[in-house]
Amino acid sequence: MKICVLPGDGIGPEITAEAVRVLRALDLKFELEEALLGGSAVDATGSPYPEATSKLAREADAVLLGAVGGPKWDTLPREQRPERGLLGIRKELGLFANLRPAILYPELANASSLKPEIVAGLDILIVRELTGDIYFGQPRGIEVRNGERYGFNTMHYTESEIRRILRVAFEAARKRNRKLCSVDKMNVLETTQLWRDVANELAPEYPDVELTHMLVDNAAMQLVRAPKQFDVMVTGNMFGDILSDEASMLTGSIGMLPSASLDENNKGLYEPSHGSAPDIAGKGVANPLATILSAAMLLRYTFAQEEAAQRVEGAVKKVLAQGYRTGDIFEPGTKRVGTREMGDAVLAAL
Ligand code: IPM
Ligand code: MG
Repeated sequence: MKICVLPGDGIGPEITAEAVRVLRALDLKFELEEALLGGSAVDATGSPYPEATSKLAREADAVLLGAVGGPKWDTLPREQRPERGLLGIRKELGLFANLRPAILYPELANASSLKPEIVAGLDILIVRELTGDIYFGQPRGIEVRNGERYGFNTMHYTESEIRRILRVAFEAARKRNRKLCSVDKMNVLETTQLWRDVANELAPEYPDVELTHMLVDNAAMQLVRAPKQFDVMVTGNMFGDILSDEASMLTGSIGMLPSASLDENNKGLYEPSHGSAPDIAGKGVANPLATILSAAMLLRYTFAQEEAAQRVEGAVKKVLAQGYRTGDIFEPGTKRVGTREMGDAVLAAL
């Protein structure tokens, strides 16, 4: 079981260190090797996704990633920006299926900006297509045309790309409450009309799953109006980027939410849904739980170690019940701890 660890930038190294401690505490034989990705890779090698990292990631069974990016690198040419490293590894490894759960932990109900009765018991899975759409579409660029600057990108999907992500979503719905909401903008965009058509064509193969469709603007509204109507949501890369941030905030803290990005053979890249939080980097206060929960997803999806995954998730629930909180989820009456102490608490609970 080979795991490539990419700490990345900002709080990345601190939070991945805790997740690695948790993995090492399990009685499983992992081989863990670290490499550079993002801004730290740019600083060291000039590239956000160096060849050595690509090699290690290709050879590993799974990748555990912290986070990439920071203001320091925002003015570099686009090909050298940390985000390009992340998009590069997703594309190169064919990680087309991004699973982003948004779960409300009862202990954190007050952290949500929505009323507790709207979010209590919330458990949504967003399935986001990750290697296509306007993110990777050609042509793209900024050019001068007719004497003025002109910016352009291309949205496109092939039916096979749509079909394979929808299959992942249908299968996921089968293991949950059997409700799948496919999100598109078919009233304006042809690409997403195709998306809806393909979804409808597949539906008869999954008679046990209830398929519905929703336009993305309405989906954004419904997520804050009545989020518990959703079980699994499936959508393209761009809409999924936006809706998954929105869904994560329903739970109060993006610091709690893991994600998995899988290829066709369950090789995966696992990372917290949040970013590199440069403002608190190096201070030892970041919440490591999303990364620890990402390690649990890694155990579940890539290594089929369901029992170990549940042990880790159980330990996280336990530390919340014990009242341990990092700053992002702190409220009066709970115990404020730093990154390392939170890791210690999870290890003790394990
Ligand atoms: C995410 C992030 C990335 C994305 C950025 C950092 C390129 O926002 O994983 O959601 O847009 O996919
Ligand atoms: Mg995003």
